[in-house]
Amino acid sequence: MNRATPIAELDQHINDTVCIRGWVTHFRSSGKIHFLMVRDGTGEVQVVLRPGGDQPPQGEPEVGAFGIESSVEVWGHVHDDVRAPAGVELQATNVCLLGPSVDYPIQPKAHGVDFLLDHRHLWIRSPRQIAILRVRARIVHAIRQFLDDAGFVLADPPILTPAVAEGTTTLFGIDYFGQPAFLSQSGQLYMEALALALGRVYSFGPTFRAEKSKTRRHLMEFWMVEPEIAFCDFTENMVWQERLLAHVVEDVRIHCQEELNQLGRDVSALQRVSIPFPRITYDDAIVRLNQAGITIRWGEDLGAPHEAALAAMFDKPVFVTHFPEAIKAFYMQPDPARPEVVLASDLLAPEGYGEIIGGSERIYDLDLLLKRLKEHSMDAKDYSWYIDLRRYGSVPHSGFGMGLERVVAWICGLEHVRETIPFPRTLNRMWP
Ligand code: 4AD
Ligand code: MG
Repeated sequence: MNRATPIAELDQHINDTVCIRGWVTHFRSSGKIHFLMVRDGTGEVQVVLRPGGDQPPQGEPEVGAFGIESSVEVWGHVHDDVRAPAGVELQATNVCLLGPSVDYPIQPKAHGVDFLLDHRHLWIRSPRQIAILRVRARIVHAIRQFLDDAGFVLADPPILTPAVAEGTTTLFGIDYFGQPAFLSQSGQLYMEALALALGRVYSFGPTFRAEKSKTRRHLMEFWMVEPEIAFCDFTENMVWQERLLAHVVEDVRIHCQEELNQLGRDVSALQRVSIPFPRITYDDAIVRLNQAGITIRWGEDLGAPHEAALAAMFDKPVFVTHFPEAIKAFYMQPDPARPEVVLASDLLAPEGYGEIIGGSERIYDLDLLLKRLKEHSMDAKDYSWYIDLRRYGSVPHSGFGMGLERVVAWICGLEHVRETIPFPRTLNRMWP
């Protein structure tokens, strides 16, 4: 196929004859003149078909010939048009119907969310979904750019794993030739091994959790970026997190203005995301919540309403630190001054989006790790390779995991994470 001109680049081709290819989003006729809106993934442009001109378009279309989402190839002249959204209009000399589309299921009216999710393979063509997917791609780009430039080496942990990383309640078990295995909940344990090989590493891939809860921020399959850093303590770990997130938000604000506009996102909230972010301890969080009339006892985990209430007390993302060890994972380093709390942080996003990053300093002392495994009723045999990391040149190290979909939901200002990933896997849905 010859190269078509991307619609987004048409404004560089004023008065040229070009070819575009895409899908019809709207078709109407006024007398003998036909108007088609055509989208190609880069943008949308109005195509005008005017029969009887100097070069009459071939194959004059019937009204209704171009159903919503039919695919077309259009040849035409690019005209400057300040009133058009794309700044240009295409005066067609030839329109060729490539793939007809009759009775397209998604119409320009309000559909229920179940209907849309059943038709997710088509729903992703709508302007809002396209905007979200473009922002998602930009966020991924910005994350990689930041980490690559900061000397982090991309290293991929396995997805098929023999042992638990983040608690037994959310495991997807599979049969590995007669051996029990699990889909990875987090690559962290492997990233720790890789950090001791390469210094600063990160992974970026799908992770899986059989979350039995139906909430607006849980997916069964989600993407996580997991940096892991040798010779890094808990405090420096938070500095990496805030620098990464501030970079991502700024990058999206600069490069996705059209998309954020399409989504109706109030960008003033994003403009405030400058470093440093505030830090409060879990102790302080409990006091603040109770003062605000939200009853919670020391030792209880923070739920979504707690996180939302805390985040509302700040106008930027906020770190909550020093959680009780009993509610956190086995690998977290206890605070030497107060061993009942761990050197861990959750980063809470503003506007009720809740925890978007979880991070901690890791236990690097062999005996302490063995003790913690026992306390968590975990079998040291299952973690012998992980324990080895504390036998051969152990060093203080820290890392964190940032959930991509939650970041996309927050930056785009979405109600629910199901729109942040092309094909969401939720509690009751694995279709399409
Ligand atoms: O806080 P979590 O469970 O931390 C870990 O898995 C660590 N091992 C990461 C690390 O230190 N390398 O998960 C990290 C982040 C959460 O803050 C959240 O953004 C996201 O992953 N997340 C989910 N996102 C969507 N759906 C779910 N079910 C999620 N569970 C966690
Ligand atoms: Mg967490």
